[in-house]
Order: sequence, then structure tokens, then C-alpha cells
Amino acid sequence: MANIRIFDTTLRDGEQSPGVSLNQSEKQAIARQLARLGVDIIEAGFPVASQGDFESVQAIAKAAASEDSRVVITGLARAHHGDIDRAAAALEVATNPRIHTFIATSPIHMEKKLQLTPDEVVERAVDAVQHARNYVDDVEFSAEDAGRSDIDFLARIFQAAIDAGATTVNVPDTVGYMTPWEYGALIEGLFERVPDLHNVAVSTHCHDDLGFAVANSMAGVRAGATQVECTINGIGERAGNASLEEIVMGLNVRKDVWGHDVAIDTRELYRTSRMVSSMTGMTVPPNKAIVGDNAFAHESGIHQDGVIKAIETYEIMSAESVGRDAGVLVMGKHSGRRAFRKTLDDLGYQNLEDEQIDGLFRQFKDLCDRKTTVTSEDIRALVDADSVRVPQTFKLLGVQFQSGTNVMPVATVRVETQDGVKQEAAQGDGPVDASYRAIERISGVPLKLESYEIRSVGHGKDALGEVSVRMRHDDDTVFARGLSTDVLEASAKAYVEALNKFAAGMGLGSKTSTDNGQAP
Ligand code: KIV
Ligand code: ZN
Repeated sequence: MANIRIFDTTLRDGEQSPGVSLNQSEKQAIARQLARLGVDIIEAGFPVASQGDFESVQAIAKAAASEDSRVVITGLARAHHGDIDRAAAALEVATNPRIHTFIATSPIHMEKKLQLTPDEVVERAVDAVQHARNYVDDVEFSAEDAGRSDIDFLARIFQAAIDAGATTVNVPDTVGYMTPWEYGALIEGLFERVPDLHNVAVSTHCHDDLGFAVANSMAGVRAGATQVECTINGIGERAGNASLEEIVMGLNVRKDVWGHDVAIDTRELYRTSRMVSSMTGMTVPPNKAIVGDNAFAHESGIHQDGVIKAIETYEIMSAESVGRDAGVLVMGKHSGRRAFRKTLDDLGYQNLEDEQIDGLFRQFKDLCDRKTTVTSEDIRALVDADSVRVPQTFKLLGVQFQSGTNVMPVATVRVETQDGVKQEAAQGDGPVDASYRAIERISGVPLKLESYEIRSVGHGKDALGEVSVRMRHDDDTVFARGLSTDVLEASAKAYVEALNKFAAGMGLGSKTSTDNGQAP
């Protein structure tokens, strides 16, 4: 049974989603989780795009090497020596490095964007692959906008890339224009024209502009592709990429149709989705397949009746199989540090530092005082929130609210700052607004709230509330989160995290791009 390799590009194409920017520690936390999920290849970034991208590819490659991970780490590079040199430098520390180089092959991209003839494009592709092969044995070549390229030209450039040493060739539907049968026929046609494709990995990379990204990728697999490029929650440029969780569960649940294995631990899917959603600020719609809040909810009486009699009546996979075991009670207030550590191990957090465990244990004890049942999902939320290191320039010490019907909301906030502990009270349109005004008085930094979302981690009236905000300061924005059983406190925590991110220069404003008309 053939294996399909899962190439995750959440940290590269996913990070190209409008408004998304992850800082280095968020990228590293996601990369660690992707490795735990079992992806075969992590595209960690586009090293030439910025110093930040370079450093995070390097840090992710280093972490994977030190953990002896089998995962391949790749960095993107246009078909230029400068890009390839930079990718190679970032990947120098990797145990399993891959350089991913690309050039556009559609008439519109070649004429209008690159202003190169087809012959020149082939020459550039060959030169890029050869140059990359001087550094690494594993080189992927992508024909950008393959979906709108001439198939005979694609066959020619792929053959040339393979002759030059490419070990994977990728067929991107960059603009999400194709239908599943067209994409399947394209892959089939390429196999007919280029028999050497059987000696390399053939990859799909489909965008979702018409909502066909997953269907197109699956059609590619059916036609013989052996690698699928995708992102967690389907995030990515414009309408996004093929969603990893849908591809994986499609291959898994309908193995009878596809006949392929993947090396993914599907029980890590939900957690990975939650982590990416909260770190990127890109919310998952409730009806999203596999990971949406409603994906396993049965609302109508007829469905509920069926599920009670036999779950298979309306469920084609179990919630547990994708890691949605939220209701499991794992610990209580009498559990000690040793039991807590064991629970962390069981949940897959084997590599935490002692100091981090101490901090998490304190948070767990606080949670036990506020919540009657502490579930595995609560503990995961605590660890995920703790996995991103933001220097604590401001520390929320306490917040008190006065609000109700016909009462002007007032919040009193205490914050530790670099100039000592400060306290302020303020009125507002609501308690959250009042607390934000009070914090602004303390910090002296005017922030504009651009978006505010709240979700519950798990169920029940004492469930943890997770507040995600997007804040603006001058030309810079950040996403930040706060977690608490008290949603007002969670809101204040999110605001303080935003302040800390601005103070540490972790804003989106620091995101740079290689916008010279050739960025993917
Ligand atoms: O969509 C695209 O064509 C890409 C390539 C760089 C692989 O992201
Ligand atoms: Zn893409």
C-alpha cells in the first residue's frame, strides 16, 4: 500500500494569509506540533523574505535536528541563486533539509510577470535546481500556475528539472482555477508525457478560490501524485490552500477508495487546528469539516435518535479519532505535581522544561479552584497559551468590574509595569471597554481594538473562555489571546498580551515580503 507524504505549508503559504503574521516562538510551537502530528515535510518559511523568516526556518531546522525528528524541513526559494543561497544557509543545521525552488510556467505569468520567454524559464529552472543540488540532495521544483500552463511545456520543464536533479516536482493550481477532473487529467497527462515522473515524488498544491482545493488534491492523488501540499485549517493566500485535516481524514476514512496510508496521528488533528487558529487569529467556521465546532454535533431529533441507537447512523468517523476527547476528566484539585507531569506526558508534552512545568502547575491549581472538572482540553489550552514566549513588560495583577442593568460599567485594573505597580479605574461602554480604557491609562499606549472574539474551551458554564483580539498601534497590528474561566478577565489578559507583543516588536508591521513581482 503506497504512502502519501503530507507536506505542510502552514508556516509558509499559510502565513501568507492576509493579516496573518506569526512570531518566531509561535512558529516554533506550531512546528513542534506539526512534528507531533506526524507530517512528513514542514515548509518552515521563505528565508529570503525577511531576517525573521530566515531565523525561524533556521530555528525550526535546529529544533527538529536536536529532537532527532524524521521530519524534512524545507524553505522556499525563487529560481535565483540569492534565494537558494539564503534557503541553504537557513537549512544548514537541518538533518533532513530540502530546498523548494519555483518559477512560473503559465503564459500570463511568463509574459506579464517574469517577462521571460519559455526557453529562458526552462533555463532558469534547470540552473536553480542544479544550484540547489550543490547544497542538498533533496530538491523540489514547482511550476507556479501549472494549472493554467500548457501541458506540453510543463512536461518539458519537469523533464528538464528531473534531469537537473529535482527529486520532487510540484504541480500547483496557484490560482485555484481548476476542476477536479481537469486537475486529475493534468497529473495523468504528465505521467504519460514524462515517464521519469515515476522515479520522483509528484506533488499537488491546490488553492481554494473556487472551493475545490481538497477535491483537486484528491483527484491528483487518484491520478498518481504521491505528495500533497496543504495547510492546517486550509489557511493560505486569498481563499487558502487544501486543508490538511480534510485530506488526511478523506484518505483515512475512505481508504477503501484511495488505498493509501499516511503517517499522520489523526488524534492530534483537532489540537493542531486549535493551536493554529488561536495563534493566527483565523477562526475556524463552526461547520468546517473535521475541526469545526459543529462537525460532530447532532441537532435534529431524528439524527439524535439515530445516534443514540447506533452512532454509525450519522457518524462516519469518531470524534475521538481526530482528538476531540474534550470531555475526559483528567485531574482534580488534589492531584500533585508528579501526577500533573504524568498527565502532560500522556497528552504528548514530553519535552517541557521543569520551569515551564512549575508555571503550568500553578496555573492548573488556580484553574482547579475555579472549575469543578479539569479536562484534557483545558490542560492543552494552558500549555498552548504558555508555549509562546512574550516578554512580560506589563503583567496583569488583578481586575475588578462593576456592571449590570442601569449601571455605568466601571473597571479597576492593577498592572505591574517597569515603573512599578499601577492601578487605574475607568468607565466604559461595557465592562470590557472599561477595562481596556483603564489599561490604556496605565500603559500610556493607545491601542485600537480591531477585532474581538470569544470562544469556550470545552463545555459547561465553568468552561475556560478564550478571548482573541486584534489590536492596532499606529501602523502595526498584533493578535493576542487571554485565557480564563472569567471572560472579562480573559479579555483584560488578551489586551495586556497585545501590549507586551507591541513592546517586544512582535507586530504584523514587521512582516516584510519579497514583493518584486515574483513572490508566490
Ligand atoms: O501557489 C503556489 O504556486 C505556490 C508555489 C510557490 C508552490 O505557493
Ligand atoms: Zn501556494
